[in-house]
Amino acid sequence: MSQNNAILITNIGRCYGISESPYSFKKGKDFSHVEVLENAWIYIQSGRIVEYGTGHPPQQYSAIKTLDAKGGIALPSYVDTHTHIVFPKSRHEEYVMRIKGKSYEEIAKAGGGILNSAKAMQHASVEELYQASKLRLNSMIAHGTGVVEIKSGYGLTKESEIKMLEVIQLLKEETDVCIKATFLGAHAIPLEYKSNRAAYIDLLINEMLPEVAQRNLAEYCDVFCDEGFFTIDETRLILNAANQYGLKPKIHANELGVSGGVQVGVECDAISVDHLECTTEKEWEALAGSKTIPTLLPGTSFFLGIPFGAAREMIDYGLGLVLASDFNPGSTPSGDMQFVQSLGCIKMKMTPEEAFNAVTYNAAAALECQHDYGSITKGKIANIQIHDNLSDLSQISYYYGQNTLTHHLINGKLQLV
Ligand code: NIG
Ligand code: FE
Repeated sequence: MSQNNAILITNIGRCYGISESPYSFKKGKDFSHVEVLENAWIYIQSGRIVEYGTGHPPQQYSAIKTLDAKGGIALPSYVDTHTHIVFPKSRHEEYVMRIKGKSYEEIAKAGGGILNSAKAMQHASVEELYQASKLRLNSMIAHGTGVVEIKSGYGLTKESEIKMLEVIQLLKEETDVCIKATFLGAHAIPLEYKSNRAAYIDLLINEMLPEVAQRNLAEYCDVFCDEGFFTIDETRLILNAANQYGLKPKIHANELGVSGGVQVGVECDAISVDHLECTTEKEWEALAGSKTIPTLLPGTSFFLGIPFGAAREMIDYGLGLVLASDFNPGSTPSGDMQFVQSLGCIKMKMTPEEAFNAVTYNAAAALECQHDYGSITKGKIANIQIHDNLSDLSQISYYYGQNTLTHHLINGKLQLV
């Protein structure tokens, strides 16, 4: 057996997220179940998980480079299915305005918010955007994330939307993380189109989308379908056009109100509908009869001080969920998926097992990469985290705000943490 690029993780007190069986999205009873192997080892070769077991590793692995987990816990890397990490500058001024009483919507209506980022984006170079985004990505890796979706949406002109997608492309090429790109030209209506929304949508559909598709710059197309942003009809129009170009739909839905975004997502076969701070049983019912994955972003509720999604009720209704960070400069300036789990557990009454499934196994399905990521399975990519000071999964969300990660392998390669 060739021992090139081989690594043996030894002395794992508890290994979580093992999956022997063929993949299936977790909901119902399965959603609260996490597979655990005690006193485990994992053998990795050429970036993939080859074998795992309990007790002493077999003699044949004795000469292989080892990584001692010191009796701590091991788990698959997090899959963060919703981020906006390519942005030109911080928006801390708006954060202070909100502390003093202004709402997110008021700031957006006055030309702040997304339009504020879009203004700065016009002058940002690919190189500076790339460097800034890479730092954000590194901080996410250092907190356990190994797969990331990244959206455009702060360009809002053809040139700047393409520029953002080129930056995402560069990140794909230059880093070990698996990255999926989403075209979000429909993030806001630019000021100059305020009285002619149809013209912007026309530009998006007839000029931006063809180039994005032709240059293969994105896998998904997203629309911010909410009060004050894009309507149901506009969302349907854009997503149907995107579908024709082979870009699968995702939607920002029901953040600021019961927008109908969930239903239009289901109707358009969206891979996921994300945010869902405002839902009723009608939305849960629509989701239950569909393949569209409900994704909650509790960091946004925390940072904006808006209601948290009804995770507990949705799970009890029979739905399986995904949790993601929504890392962006306006509503969630953090990509810390450990804290996302703390919020899921503490504020939304998810169990640590449910939160874990929501950021690993189920999250991989929301990026259609479940065959390579999201669990510790023979043949999958070796994206594995070790928290060598912890003894139980629940301690990740319990020690909120503290990074408990000590080692992180992505593609079997040790990262800086
Ligand atoms: O997902 N809700 C829409 N878009 C982002 C926020 C964008 C911004 O404020 O910059 C979100 O929260
Ligand atoms: Fe978002």
